[in-house]
Amino acid sequence: MKLIIDDAHIDQIRKIYEYYPVDGVTTNPTILAKSGRQPYEVLKEIREFIGAKAELHVQVTAREAEGMVEDAHRIIQELGKNTFVKIPSVPEGFKAMMALHHEGVKLTATAIYTPMQAFLAAKAGADYAAPYINRIDNMGYNGVKVAKDIHDIFRNNGLQTEVLAASFKNSQQLLELCEYGVGASTVSPDVIFALVKNKAITSAIDDFIADFEGLVGAGKTMKDC
Ligand code: E4P
Repeated sequence: MKLIIDDAHIDQIRKIYEYYPVDGVTTNPTILAKSGRQPYEVLKEIREFIGAKAELHVQVTAREAEGMVEDAHRIIQELGKNTFVKIPSVPEGFKAMMALHHEGVKLTATAIYTPMQAFLAAKAGADYAAPYINRIDNMGYNGVKVAKDIHDIFRNNGLQTEVLAASFKNSQQLLELCEYGVGASTVSPDVIFALVKNKAITSAIDDFIADFEGLVGAGKTMKDC
């Protein structure tokens, strides 16, 4: 499972890249608004930092298919061909996906709450389909199960589309999808920083260091012995 950062704050992205094995960055219009910066200014900075080959996902904001296609062309022109264009999984979006897929544009179908949206997006040519785990949970359904069902639908129908699970609020949701082997998950910085935050882990490491320093002297490590 690829692990992707769902954020547009360059300082957070830099920090996560330094400490965690991640595979790219996803954004949406709300995330861009939270950055407080102009869209292409911040997106170009992210692209330059992660490199031309890394996955960057950027969403169209037009409501109709023709406008979505125009948005997609501009996104690719500004950020490179390796940019995944996120398209909402609604009828206008399916129309745009079919046209863009025909052009060879990489596509992430987004705003997915139901398996049927994902199935239609996959048939329309989406490379990824992004179910919103936590938002589905908040509606009283099981977001993880929806994502697993979508993964199964793709495999059972010979579709190459991968699940890109989104909207996580905790590491348990992420772990379940990791165990199931979905293609990718995109996770906000606060959830990433909490993935291995656990007193038992830090306490075990503190004990090892205290025992070792008791043997060789305070502040000494293996290189000093
Ligand atoms: C991804 O495609 C979505 O834009 C995003 O992950 C939604 O996350 P949220 O529900 O935390 O806003």
